[in-house]
Amino acid sequence: MKLKSITTPIFIAAISFTAHAQTPSSMKLSEEEITTKVDSLLSLMTLEEKVGQTVQYNGFWDVTGPAPNGTNEAKKYEDLKNGRVGSMLSVRGVKEVRAVQKIAVEESRLGIPLIIGFDVIHGYKTLSPIPLAEAASWDLEAIKKSAQVAASEAAASGINWTFAPMVDISRDPRWGRVMEGGGEDPFLGSKIAAARVTGFQGENLADPLTIAACAKHFAGYGFAEAGREYNKADFSAVTLHNVVLPPFKAAVEAGTRTLMNGFNEWNGLPVTANKYLLHDVLKDEWDFNGFVVSDWASIEEMITWGYAKDKKEAALRAMTAGTDMDMEGYVYNEALEELVANGTIDEEVLDDAVRRILRVKFELGLFEDPYRYCDEERERTIIGSKENREAVLDMAKKSIVLLKNENKLLPLQKKNQNIAVIGPLAEDDNSPLGSWRLGSDDHTAVSFLEGMRAYKGNNITYAKGADLITNDPQFTKELHVNTSNKSDFDEAIETAKNADVVVMVLGEHGFQTGEGRSRTELGLSGVQQELLEKVYEVNKNIVLVLNNGRPLVIDWAAAHIPAIVEAWQLGTESGNAIAQVLYGDYNPSGKLPMTFPRSVGQIPIYYNKRNTGRPVDPAPGQEQVFWSKYIDEENSPLYPFGFGLSYTTFEYADLKLNKESIKSSDEIKVSVTVTNTGNYDGKEVVQLYIHDKYASIIRPIKELKGFELVTLEKGESKTIQFTLTEKELGFYDAEGNYKVEPGEFSVFVGGSSEADLKKEFTIKE
Ligand code: NOJ
Repeated sequence: MKLKSITTPIFIAAISFTAHAQTPSSMKLSEEEITTKVDSLLSLMTLEEKVGQTVQYNGFWDVTGPAPNGTNEAKKYEDLKNGRVGSMLSVRGVKEVRAVQKIAVEESRLGIPLIIGFDVIHGYKTLSPIPLAEAASWDLEAIKKSAQVAASEAAASGINWTFAPMVDISRDPRWGRVMEGGGEDPFLGSKIAAARVTGFQGENLADPLTIAACAKHFAGYGFAEAGREYNKADFSAVTLHNVVLPPFKAAVEAGTRTLMNGFNEWNGLPVTANKYLLHDVLKDEWDFNGFVVSDWASIEEMITWGYAKDKKEAALRAMTAGTDMDMEGYVYNEALEELVANGTIDEEVLDDAVRRILRVKFELGLFEDPYRYCDEERERTIIGSKENREAVLDMAKKSIVLLKNENKLLPLQKKNQNIAVIGPLAEDDNSPLGSWRLGSDDHTAVSFLEGMRAYKGNNITYAKGADLITNDPQFTKELHVNTSNKSDFDEAIETAKNADVVVMVLGEHGFQTGEGRSRTELGLSGVQQELLEKVYEVNKNIVLVLNNGRPLVIDWAAAHIPAIVEAWQLGTESGNAIAQVLYGDYNPSGKLPMTFPRSVGQIPIYYNKRNTGRPVDPAPGQEQVFWSKYIDEENSPLYPFGFGLSYTTFEYADLKLNKESIKSSDEIKVSVTVTNTGNYDGKEVVQLYIHDKYASIIRPIKELKGFELVTLEKGESKTIQFTLTEKELGFYDAEGNYKVEPGEFSVFVGGSSEADLKKEFTIKE
């Protein structure tokens, strides 16, 4: 399109949108082409229209946050018509997207299309496991595929931008949103961030089955103090650079087109107005040329923080720091125009924000065809397709973690068994969908019981045992836990008495996890722990299947129950996935992406802790009062990061380094032989950790720096090789400078963060 040559702007849309009905794959524009088009369009825009591009409205209903005062549908329609809106969120379905797009494109002066955002967190209609569960697969290809499926369904519904992946590292399972991220580790988190971004965005953003990604929440939201939602985050600059930022950097390197900031502050500044993070780090140092959207009303909330006295000040601070778009905050649309008109904000600053937003719209192909995501046929055939269900089933199986399996209780025999299924989550077809399921329908998961009943050889009896919740929870509605009604216990106990095996499905409800769902107590919610103990009194042959969105404190179960399966909230195909694992048709290979504590009092607990001056892990019998420990609990976790069993067993041997010392610019190769020593074919996540023993800042006692998912038939051995380079061997100092320092290093390889096969090497000057 030749914008500069057109003098009557109102024609721009009509001409360029209809004249280029090309096949989607031919539409990738070069960087230069986009820059020229963006500049041409910008030169035609009035100040009001420029501000309009920075404004994002929620759809005509308010689903993901408190509705700000004084807004109404009529105003939103008016603003759309007047080119005062650049984006909408939570509009979905071809019919609705087409309707709002039509107003923007056909009624506004320049006809600039909207970018349509939506929380496609772990699927759109066909739901994958929650992201924390997917992270447990350590299977980057599967994670990427899952994002592709999500993107294709969302795109088929008219959406072209997801508010995912959430790449916040978190060490605090009290925070409800740990379910939405990749866990506690920056290395694993970075790999997952990149896999999800590429899955959503594909090769060409203009392909109508891909959508723009949004790495969020930039930065530090995962460190909400005490795990309390929306609380301040207080952590050091060393933690910022080494733990918080790496997954964002990986997402930017993978090409994420947008980032979202968050509800937290860091270093006394709301991140929404943090110039250092948004401008200096993201846009300058990382050279990010996409755009940054605020979180829901996070610009306006700076007034409540006491950081801006009114909307004008909030707009000034957020815009000059680098927040390009205001999500449902009513600050930019009310204050920005005047601030630019009177010179308080340089127009170049606004132009930069608008350029970024327009660039992504061009990349999405929206200027060629604003309705390119609005195809009823695609909507009918892609959403909920058989292939998509198969893909999420595959992802679900890969996400399951076997935590304990005494006496080979699992896998279950397929015939002639009396199996008692007990627990409020066993028959639940809603909870496995988690709380982020805005594009899906309630009660559409395959329940555990359904999955088990697909296997016909055994006699299955079911007793709920107790209700977990007492109301019908919704995304925006609080849930009530049953803490007193035990009237169904007796039936469950009777059912358990004569069973060969009891399978208990317990944990927390899908709506006890996610945004706004912080917990202080992390046991099996409500009366479930008591139910478990009562059933155990009559039958000890219990398989505990956990459904949850965060690490739970299950110390009693870990000590008493012979088999424990971590089955998270696995999405649409939940029940089928768990049943296939319990029956051994799929051998579990998941590994925990977050540490499971022994008690809430240990939180934050994570494997890559820094050393202390007093021994953290004293030798048994050597404990002293003045050491870094608790007097009433061990330091160690219940289940460490990276831990997970299989129905088979693996042995590690022959850890070798190709050199004993290297220069800091050299690489070093590490090899290890892994053998499947059990009776099943299986997969193992081989993990490599390092420890930089002496450095100019204190380094963690272990850091994950490599992993590989290896398939081994029974009896088979493979030699796995890792390469460590400058990229893995250095760290950031408090100013954000990356360094590789001379000194001694240890390398550990094994099947969890407790890997103890160890070698040493030196980096020389
Ligand atoms: C608030 C959440 O923090 C953010 O992650 C989400 O994308 C927006 N609401 C939009 O729903």
